[in-house]
Parts: sequence; C-alpha cells; structure tokens
Amino acid sequence: MKDSVEKRIQNLREELEHHEYLYYVLDQPEISDAEYDSKMRELQDLERAHPEYQSPHSPTQRVGGKPREGFVKVPHSSPMLSLDNALNETELRDFDGRVRGGLKDREYEYVAELKLDGLSMAAHYRDGRFQQALTRGDGRVGEDVTENARTIRSLPLRVGEKRKVRLAGAVFEVRGEVVMEHRSFERMNEDREREGLPRFANPRNAAAGALRALDPSITAARRLNYYAYFLLRDGRPLAASHWKNLEMLEEAGFKVNPYKAKCKGLDDLLAFIHKWEGARDGLPYEIDGVVVKVDSVAQQDLLGWTAKAPRWAIAFKYPARQASTVLDNIDVQVGRTGTLTPVAHLRPVSFSGVTVSRATLHNEDEIERLGVQIGDTVLVERSGDVIPKIVRVIEQGADRRPFHMPSACPVCGSHVVREPGESARRCVNTNCPARLRESLLHFSARGVMDIDGMGDALVDQLLAAKLVHNIADLYWLTEDQLLGLDRMGKKSASKVLHNIERSKAQPLARVLNGLGIPFVGERTGQILADYFGDLDKIAHATDEELQQADEIGPKVAASIRDFFGEVRNGELIEKLREAGLQFKSEVKREKPIGVLAAKTFVITGTLPTLKREDAKELIEQAGGKVAGSVSSKTNFLVAGEDAGSKLAKAQELGVVVIGEEDLLRMLEAGKD
Ligand code: IVH
Repeated sequence: MKDSVEKRIQNLREELEHHEYLYYVLDQPEISDAEYDSKMRELQDLERAHPEYQSPHSPTQRVGGKPREGFVKVPHSSPMLSLDNALNETELRDFDGRVRGGLKDREYEYVAELKLDGLSMAAHYRDGRFQQALTRGDGRVGEDVTENARTIRSLPLRVGEKRKVRLAGAVFEVRGEVVMEHRSFERMNEDREREGLPRFANPRNAAAGALRALDPSITAARRLNYYAYFLLRDGRPLAASHWKNLEMLEEAGFKVNPYKAKCKGLDDLLAFIHKWEGARDGLPYEIDGVVVKVDSVAQQDLLGWTAKAPRWAIAFKYPARQASTVLDNIDVQVGRTGTLTPVAHLRPVSFSGVTVSRATLHNEDEIERLGVQIGDTVLVERSGDVIPKIVRVIEQGADRRPFHMPSACPVCGSHVVREPGESARRCVNTNCPARLRESLLHFSARGVMDIDGMGDALVDQLLAAKLVHNIADLYWLTEDQLLGLDRMGKKSASKVLHNIERSKAQPLARVLNGLGIPFVGERTGQILADYFGDLDKIAHATDEELQQADEIGPKVAASIRDFFGEVRNGELIEKLREAGLQFKSEVKREKPIGVLAAKTFVITGTLPTLKREDAKELIEQAGGKVAGSVSSKTNFLVAGEDAGSKLAKAQELGVVVIGEEDLLRMLEAGKD
C-alpha cells in the first residue's frame, strides 16, 4: 500500500515540476491554474499524511518555510565579481581593441545578453538537486538564502529526472539574476501602500528586499524570477563556450533570457545594443544595458581578470532614464474611489526622447520620505511602463516651501479622512464630482465595460449638462439628450448609444470591476465572479463568506461590505439591474470551502477518541465528504481499531489509510 502512495507522490511531483517548467520557464502553460492547484493540494495532503515521504525538493516546499533570524555567510566557489562598464560606443570600441590585442588577432566571437536589473545569485546543485543559494554579498562571501530561493518557481529544484539531460545527477553551480517584473513590483508597492509602508523605489530594491526577507513566505508571495547566465563546476565554466553553457542550462530546465545573440564583431554588437535600447520599454522587466562576453572559455582564460572584473566581458550601460528638474508645484487629484493623490508639476524636462512635466508623488508618506518641498531640484526617473517618479532631492530650493495635504477635498470641499493603516486620504463624499467623473471613465474604459467613445470629452459634456449623476444613468441616455450636446451629430450619437447598449453583455467580473469598489479591480472582480457567480450573493455575503474566496482578506471584504451597505449604492445596483447588466456568471469554484475541500473520506473501526459521528462532522465542517463505502473515488480511509473489510478494500485500491491522529493533524494544519 505504502508503495502506491509513494508512487502517487512521485508522479504528482513530476507532473507539478513539468507544469511549473512549462509555466514559469517557457511561459507556455498546458493546464489551468485551477488544475495545477488541485494537484498541488493533493500532494500537500499526501505529504502531510505521510511525513516519511517529505522532501526538500518537492514542489510543495516552494511555498516558504519557517522564518529565520538572519542569514549565514558562505564563501563562493570563485569570486562573484562585477563588470567594467562601457558608457558609449567609443568605450565599447576600446574594449574590443583590448580583446583583439589580448587574443593576438586570433578569431573570436562575442555573446550579447540583456543586462537584467536585479541582483545576482548563485545556486548550487548536487546530484542534480538544488542544494543551496547564495547572494553575491561582497563578491567573495555571500549570504545563504536557500529557503527563499526555493520559492522562485523558475529555479528548478531538480534537473532532468525524466529528460535525461547532461546535468541530471551532476554537481554544478548556476549563476544568474533574480528580477522582479514591473507587474509584481507595482502590486508589491500597492500592497505596501495599503499597509502604510513606504514604497520601494525600483524593482531591483524590491527584488533584493523580497530575496532577503527573513520569512520565506514573503519571498514566495513576491513572485521573483531567476534568469541563469553562468554554468560552473568548481568555480569554472562547464562547457568550452559561453553559448554552449547557456544551451545546457536551457536544456536542463533553467530560464535563460531568450534575447541573446552571437556577435562576430563591433557592428553586430552595436546592432543588438541599439535594437534593445529602442525596445526596452516593451519588456516586462527592467534592463539597464547589454552584457558582452567573449564566447570561448579558452579565450576568456587567455584574457584573464583584473582585481575586480573579467577582461573578457563588459557591461554596455544604457543612459539612465533620469533627469533633474525643478519641482514647481504640487496639486492634488481625486480618483474614482475618492483617493487624494499628490501630483508633482515639474519644469518640463526631456530625456530619452520624452518630455516630462508631471510625476506622481503617491501619497503624503512618500513626500515625507523624500523630504521634498516645492522649489527643490529633484531627480526624476522614467522606467519601463511606470509613470515618471521623483527619486530624490538633488538640491533644496532657496525659497522652498513645504506642501501639506488638504483636509478638505479640493474638488467638492467635503471632509477628507485617512483610515488607520492606510497611507491615502480619501474624500468622504461618494457624490464628489471628481469621483463621478473618474468613475464614469473607469466604468467605460477598455477592459472594463468597453464603451467606445465615452472618453474625457464626452464625460465632461455629460456632467456639465447634468445628464448623468451616476454610472447607471448612462443606460437611460436618449438620442435627443445626446444631440443637445455640442458637436454631437446624429451618427456619433447613435454610435455611442449602440456602444452603451452593447456593454450590457459584459460579464459579471467586469461589472464588478466597473463599480469602482475600493480594492476590487480586474483580478478581484474575476475572483468574486468565479466564486459567487451572482452579484446579489456578493452584496449579501458576510465578511467570513467573502473571505472564503481566494485572495480576499479582511480589508477587501470590509470594503465590499461597506460598498453594498451604502443605501445610495443599493439604488445604483437596482438601476443597473433594471438596465439589464449581467449579474450572474458561471461559478468556477474549484473546491467547496475548507482544508479538506473536495476530499472524500471513509471511516472504519473504532477511533481512539472521536465518535464516528464527530469525526464525520469535523470532516464535513472542513469541506470534506464522508462516504459509506470505499471506492476508487475515496481519498482517505480513516481506520481505527478492528477495521475490517473496508481496510482490505482500501489497501487493494491503493487508497491512503490514515489514523485519527493524522486526521486531526490535517484539520489542525488548515487552521493557520
Ligand atoms: S555576467 C563577472 N550577465 O550585472 C560578473 N551579469 O555589472 C559577470 N547582470 O553583477 C556578470 N544581467 O548582477 C552577467 N546577462 C548578464 C547579466 C548580468 C545582469 C548583472 C549582474 C552583475 C552585474 C554586472
């Protein structure tokens, strides 16, 4: 019987590893997240019931173990040095000249790779299994971040068990870059803002913070990525060329950045460098240049190292997308949830081809953190697709004056509040015109209700003519009303009405997003729709019921309850219902609620302490089912003393047999 459990565990691990590889390394998932989760849950349950089969290399270990007190320092196999920089073409030409000289005019090739802006990490493998991860530290001694690194899904925990690759079963070391994508970075900062913590200035700092978190579950939540660029054994490259090493890494299941090229000389290098300078904004992560390496390891050896960097490689740095300018003023914008955001007005400055005159300051804590005042000269940064932001004060202005957030809404004059634990101030007036304007724009936006043509200009006209007082009013607009607006012809009026009509078919998830409930955006809207499948159920759900849905915590639940508790919003919902919007959707709930969700149990024999009825009730409360007889659908047989034919049947079918103690442990595990 044990054998079959072990086999199932092995199969699940292999399947999960395979799907993690497809998802995190190749970006080509073959199964849904829900299917993945359910396999993961099955494996977790089995490992919990059979601690003897637990393994640090199991995919379940990626969720983050126990917090630690600090990091142990460990020397590197060979120094993790840095690279010299080339800041322009001339410096790159000089580098190429030195390489040519050093190689005495022998033929050579370069490999060009993107220089990912993260932090480097070495990962050690023994018998093809992940053993230890070290940060760069001071280059000679790094910090042991093994437990945190385990949570990075693109870092294989075992290589090539099935696909007999060359690295299977081998001892080797991989070096590469830990990066955080813009998306995760934004989400992390939003979370921090909600918790009243200061924002991270850039994805690199955020990645460093996440990798060095004392609690691995924090690292796990941050969705870091690992891109491998060196393959070593005993501190030396494994294959004879860098390109070959990259290929072997790919083959073994590591994520290697696909944007790389073999280059014959300076022209090839420059073409690669220029191409990516133009395209860097389209990448999901930040890059700050291109790394150029001599391909042949023998030639690398010939060129050797200086005290701090290899002579066979260089980092071509892109000009920083930073510029300094004067902060002329700060004004305050009111968003659709009533949040007041300070916006910096800058003396227009142009860098990397874009003129910037405004930057976000996020909230008053951020202003305090920066110590910035009106009149100061500041450093402004544009990175990726992120809105320009102020990095720091360069020089204090002679006539500088501090900025204070207003205590009344700058648009409607209503009272402004700052909830405990939040860094934002909010206008309390749900009818604030600024909020209404932003709510209409958000509701109509692409990806929400998709009402084409409902942009700034039309919304402003509708508000000025007092034709709409809330989002539902859009559905009662008439052609005559629209024709009464400036520059509105019959054709555009009927187009707008058509688009409004068409939006009624948008699914519930989008309606939920469109309502503008604080903390409920696209993702949470989808989670709520999938879980409840009915707007009325969401509106009437208790805090606890709301929190049963994935990722919904107390704060979001409270916000949803507040929204639907408001009389005015109740009326709004009724008008939207009358208009015919989609209030229902298919429930896509993977599991009933609870730790034992979707698990079927059979109980047999006399349990040491629990009566059979009590055990049944406990299982059902945790979302499990209790059946009368063992079948292939049974997940667990809870066997007590004098278990008879059911035990035999379970053993025959390979059903997992557990005792009362195991059952209690499973129930307990779900409580934290
Ligand atoms: S190779 C001897 N390749 O840039 C050190 N580094 O300035 C060789 N980096 O510390 C490093 N992408 O953190 C290399 N494709 C890449 C890289 C890369 C980013 C970082 C790395 C390193 C720094 C060097």
